[in-house]
Amino acid sequence: MQVAIDGPASAGKSTVAKKLAQDLNYMYLDTGAMYRGVTLEFLKDDVDLTNDELISQKLKNINLTFETIESEQHLLINGEDKSQEIRSIAVTNSVSDVASIKQVRSFLVAEQRRIAGKHDVVMDGRDIGTTVLPNAEVKVFLLASVHERAQRRLLDYQQSGETISLNQIEEDIKNRDYKDQHRAISPLVKAKDAIELDTTSLAIDEVVEELKKIIEKVKKS
Ligand code: DC
Repeated sequence: MQVAIDGPASAGKSTVAKKLAQDLNYMYLDTGAMYRGVTLEFLKDDVDLTNDELISQKLKNINLTFETIESEQHLLINGEDKSQEIRSIAVTNSVSDVASIKQVRSFLVAEQRRIAGKHDVVMDGRDIGTTVLPNAEVKVFLLASVHERAQRRLLDYQQSGETISLNQIEEDIKNRDYKDQHRAISPLVKAKDAIELDTTSLAIDEVVEELKKIIEKVKKS
Protein backbone atom coordinates (compact mmCIF):
# COMPACT_ATOMS: atom_id res chain seq x y z
CA MET A 1 0.00 0.00 0.00
CA GLN A 2 1.36 3.41 -0.96
CA VAL A 3 -0.07 6.49 0.75
CA ALA A 4 0.84 9.87 -0.79
CA ILE A 5 0.30 12.96 1.35
CA ASP A 6 0.82 16.32 -0.33
CA GLY A 7 0.00 19.91 0.53
CA PRO A 8 1.52 23.32 1.27
CA ALA A 9 4.11 24.12 3.97
CA SER A 10 3.02 23.47 7.57
CA ALA A 11 -0.35 21.97 6.68
CA GLY A 12 0.44 19.20 9.17
CA LYS A 13 1.64 16.67 6.61
CA SER A 14 4.71 15.33 8.37
CA THR A 15 3.14 15.08 11.85
CA VAL A 16 0.13 13.27 10.45
CA ALA A 17 2.14 11.07 8.06
CA LYS A 18 4.54 10.03 10.82
CA LYS A 19 1.73 9.08 13.20
CA LEU A 20 -0.19 7.24 10.49
CA ALA A 21 2.90 5.25 9.46
CA GLN A 22 3.61 4.36 13.09
CA ASP A 23 0.04 3.15 13.74
CA LEU A 24 -0.05 1.07 10.54
CA ASN A 25 3.54 -0.11 10.78
CA TYR A 26 4.34 1.34 7.35
CA MET A 27 7.60 3.00 6.35
CA TYR A 28 7.50 6.82 6.60
CA LEU A 29 9.41 9.04 4.21
CA ASP A 30 9.66 12.82 4.77
CA THR A 31 10.66 14.07 1.32
CA GLY A 32 10.77 17.71 2.49
CA ALA A 33 13.65 16.73 4.79
CA MET A 34 15.57 15.54 1.72
CA TYR A 35 15.12 18.88 -0.10
CA ARG A 36 16.18 20.58 3.14
CA GLY A 37 19.26 18.35 3.37
CA VAL A 38 20.40 19.29 -0.13
CA THR A 39 19.71 22.97 0.66
CA LEU A 40 21.82 22.78 3.82
CA GLU A 41 24.74 21.34 1.86
CA PHE A 42 24.41 23.95 -0.90
CA LEU A 43 24.29 26.80 1.66
CA LYS A 44 27.31 25.40 3.47
CA ASP A 45 29.34 25.33 0.25
CA ASP A 46 27.82 28.58 -1.05
CA VAL A 47 26.82 26.82 -4.29
CA ASP A 48 25.87 29.06 -7.21
CA LEU A 49 22.34 27.85 -8.03
CA THR A 50 22.76 28.77 -11.70
CA ASN A 51 25.86 26.58 -12.18
CA ASP A 52 24.49 23.23 -13.50
CA GLU A 53 27.86 21.52 -13.61
CA LEU A 54 28.72 22.41 -10.02
CA ILE A 55 25.25 21.30 -8.89
CA SER A 56 25.68 17.88 -10.55
CA GLN A 57 29.06 17.49 -8.94
CA LYS A 58 27.75 18.44 -5.48
CA LEU A 59 24.77 16.07 -5.75
CA LYS A 60 27.13 13.16 -6.47
CA ASN A 61 28.74 13.78 -3.09
CA ILE A 62 25.53 13.91 -1.08
CA ASN A 63 24.41 10.65 0.50
CA LEU A 64 21.08 10.96 2.31
CA THR A 65 19.93 8.27 4.73
CA PHE A 66 17.31 8.04 7.46
CA GLU A 67 17.74 6.50 10.88
CA THR A 68 15.11 6.02 13.56
CA ILE A 69 16.34 7.17 16.96
CA GLU A 70 13.92 6.90 19.91
CA SER A 71 11.03 6.59 17.42
CA GLU A 72 12.00 9.86 15.72
CA GLN A 73 13.26 9.81 12.14
CA HIS A 74 16.63 11.52 11.73
CA LEU A 75 18.20 12.65 8.46
CA LEU A 76 21.86 11.77 8.02
CA ILE A 77 23.95 13.54 5.39
CA ASN A 78 27.07 11.54 4.57
CA GLY A 79 26.61 9.74 7.88
CA GLU A 80 26.17 12.87 10.04
CA ASP A 81 22.90 13.64 11.80
CA LYS A 82 21.60 16.97 10.43
CA SER A 83 17.99 16.73 11.65
CA GLN A 84 18.18 19.99 13.59
CA GLU A 85 20.15 22.06 11.08
CA ILE A 86 17.72 21.32 8.24
CA ARG A 87 14.92 23.05 10.20
CA SER A 88 16.75 26.39 10.58
CA ILE A 89 15.22 29.61 9.23
CA ALA A 90 18.09 29.98 6.73
CA VAL A 91 17.35 26.56 5.21
CA THR A 92 13.58 27.15 5.30
CA ASN A 93 13.94 30.39 3.37
CA SER A 94 16.19 28.92 0.65
CA VAL A 95 14.66 25.48 0.18
CA SER A 96 12.03 26.52 -2.42
CA ASP A 97 14.77 27.89 -4.68
CA VAL A 98 16.80 24.70 -4.40
CA ALA A 99 13.66 22.56 -4.89
CA SER A 100 12.96 24.30 -8.19
CA ILE A 101 16.24 23.02 -9.75
CA LYS A 102 15.62 20.22 -12.26
CA GLN A 103 18.73 18.16 -11.36
CA VAL A 104 17.91 18.33 -7.65
CA ARG A 105 14.38 17.08 -8.27
CA SER A 106 15.47 14.20 -10.55
CA PHE A 107 18.11 13.17 -8.02
CA LEU A 108 15.70 13.19 -5.07
CA VAL A 109 12.73 11.63 -6.88
CA ALA A 110 14.96 8.68 -7.87
CA GLU A 111 16.18 8.39 -4.25
CA GLN A 112 12.60 8.53 -2.93
CA ARG A 113 11.42 5.76 -5.26
CA ARG A 114 14.47 3.67 -4.39
CA ILE A 115 14.06 4.07 -0.61
CA ALA A 116 10.32 3.34 -0.77
CA GLY A 117 10.99 0.22 -2.87
CA LYS A 118 8.24 -2.29 -2.45
CA HIS A 119 7.40 -1.42 1.16
CA ASP A 120 4.07 -0.25 2.48
CA VAL A 121 4.85 3.44 2.69
CA VAL A 122 3.47 6.80 3.78
CA MET A 123 5.31 9.53 1.90
CA ASP A 124 4.72 13.25 2.34
CA GLY A 125 5.76 16.18 0.17
CA ARG A 126 4.51 18.36 -2.67
CA ASP A 127 4.65 16.08 -5.73
CA ILE A 128 4.17 12.59 -4.31
CA GLY A 129 0.72 11.92 -5.80
CA THR A 130 1.52 13.64 -9.09
CA THR A 131 5.13 12.57 -9.77
CA VAL A 132 6.92 10.35 -7.25
CA LEU A 133 4.17 7.75 -6.71
CA PRO A 134 1.56 8.41 -9.42
CA ASN A 135 0.08 4.94 -8.84
CA ALA A 136 -0.30 5.31 -5.07
CA GLU A 137 -3.51 3.64 -3.89
CA VAL A 138 -4.29 6.53 -1.52
CA LYS A 139 -3.62 10.19 -2.30
CA VAL A 140 -4.46 12.95 0.13
CA PHE A 141 -4.03 16.71 -0.22
CA LEU A 142 -3.89 18.47 3.16
CA LEU A 143 -4.77 22.15 3.49
CA ALA A 144 -4.94 24.68 6.35
CA SER A 145 -5.26 28.48 6.55
CA VAL A 146 -2.04 30.54 6.37
CA HIS A 147 -2.68 31.87 9.90
CA GLU A 148 -3.08 28.38 11.37
CA ARG A 149 0.00 27.12 9.54
CA ALA A 150 2.07 30.10 10.76
CA GLN A 151 1.01 29.42 14.35
CA ARG A 152 2.09 25.79 14.04
CA ARG A 153 5.47 26.86 12.59
CA LEU A 154 5.92 29.45 15.39
CA LEU A 155 5.64 26.68 17.98
CA ASP A 156 8.30 24.64 16.15
CA TYR A 157 10.66 27.63 16.05
CA GLN A 158 10.07 28.45 19.73
CA GLN A 159 10.89 24.87 20.66
CA SER A 160 14.17 25.06 18.77
CA GLY A 161 15.00 28.46 20.32
CA GLU A 162 14.71 30.61 17.16
CA THR A 163 13.11 34.07 17.44
CA ILE A 164 10.75 35.22 14.69
CA SER A 165 7.37 37.04 14.64
CA LEU A 166 4.07 35.47 13.57
CA ASN A 167 3.70 38.13 10.85
CA GLN A 168 7.09 37.27 9.42
CA ILE A 169 6.26 33.56 9.39
CA GLU A 170 2.97 34.29 7.58
CA GLU A 171 4.88 36.27 4.95
CA ASP A 172 7.48 33.50 4.57
CA ILE A 173 4.75 30.86 4.19
CA LYS A 174 2.92 32.89 1.50
CA ASN A 175 6.20 33.38 -0.30
CA ARG A 176 7.06 29.68 -0.16
CA ASP A 177 3.54 28.67 -1.27
CA TYR A 178 3.86 30.97 -4.27
CA LYS A 179 7.26 29.54 -5.26
CA ASP A 180 6.17 25.93 -4.69
CA GLN A 181 3.00 26.44 -6.76
CA HIS A 182 4.61 28.34 -9.61
CA ARG A 183 7.84 26.48 -10.28
CA ALA A 184 8.21 24.93 -13.74
CA ILE A 185 8.90 21.33 -12.66
CA SER A 186 6.45 19.38 -10.49
CA PRO A 187 4.72 22.41 -8.94
CA LEU A 188 2.61 21.92 -5.84
CA VAL A 189 -0.75 20.90 -7.24
CA LYS A 190 -3.47 18.52 -6.08
CA ALA A 191 -3.44 15.25 -8.04
CA LYS A 192 -6.74 14.72 -9.88
CA ASP A 193 -7.46 11.60 -7.84
CA ALA A 194 -6.41 13.05 -4.44
CA ILE A 195 -8.84 13.55 -1.57
CA GLU A 196 -8.71 17.09 -0.17
CA LEU A 197 -8.77 17.54 3.60
CA ASP A 198 -8.77 20.93 5.38
CA THR A 199 -6.99 20.50 8.74
CA THR A 200 -7.42 24.10 10.01
CA SER A 201 -9.77 23.14 12.83
CA LEU A 202 -8.80 19.49 13.18
CA ALA A 203 -6.51 17.93 15.78
CA ILE A 204 -3.72 15.62 14.55
CA ASP A 205 -5.51 12.51 15.79
CA GLU A 206 -8.68 13.51 13.97
CA VAL A 207 -6.79 13.82 10.68
CA VAL A 208 -5.04 10.48 11.28
CA GLU A 209 -8.38 8.78 11.99
CA GLU A 210 -9.85 10.28 8.83
CA LEU A 211 -6.93 8.91 6.79
CA LYS A 212 -7.26 5.45 8.35
CA LYS A 213 -10.91 5.37 7.28
CA ILE A 214 -9.90 6.28 3.72
CA ILE A 215 -7.23 3.54 3.70
CA GLU A 216 -9.68 0.94 5.04
CA LYS A 217 -12.16 1.84 2.33
CA VAL A 218 -9.49 1.45 -0.37
CA LYS A 219 -8.37 -1.92 1.09
CA LYS A 220 -11.95 -3.22 0.95
CA SER A 221 -12.58 -2.01 -2.60
O1 DC B 1 7.61 20.03 3.84
P1 DC B 1 8.82 20.94 4.07
O2 DC B 1 8.44 22.32 4.54
O3 DC B 1 9.86 20.33 4.92
O4 DC B 1 9.43 21.11 2.60
C1 DC B 1 10.53 21.92 2.35
C2 DC B 1 10.53 22.43 0.93
O5 DC B 1 10.87 21.39 0.04
C3 DC B 1 9.24 23.06 0.39
O6 DC B 1 9.31 24.46 0.32
C4 DC B 1 9.08 22.51 -0.99
C5 DC B 1 10.10 21.45 -1.14
N1 DC B 1 9.54 20.14 -1.41
C6 DC B 1 9.29 19.82 -2.73
O7 DC B 1 9.47 20.65 -3.60
N2 DC B 1 8.86 18.57 -3.03
C7 DC B 1 8.65 17.66 -2.07
N3 DC B 1 8.23 16.43 -2.41
C8 DC B 1 8.89 17.99 -0.72
C9 DC B 1 9.30 19.25 -0.42
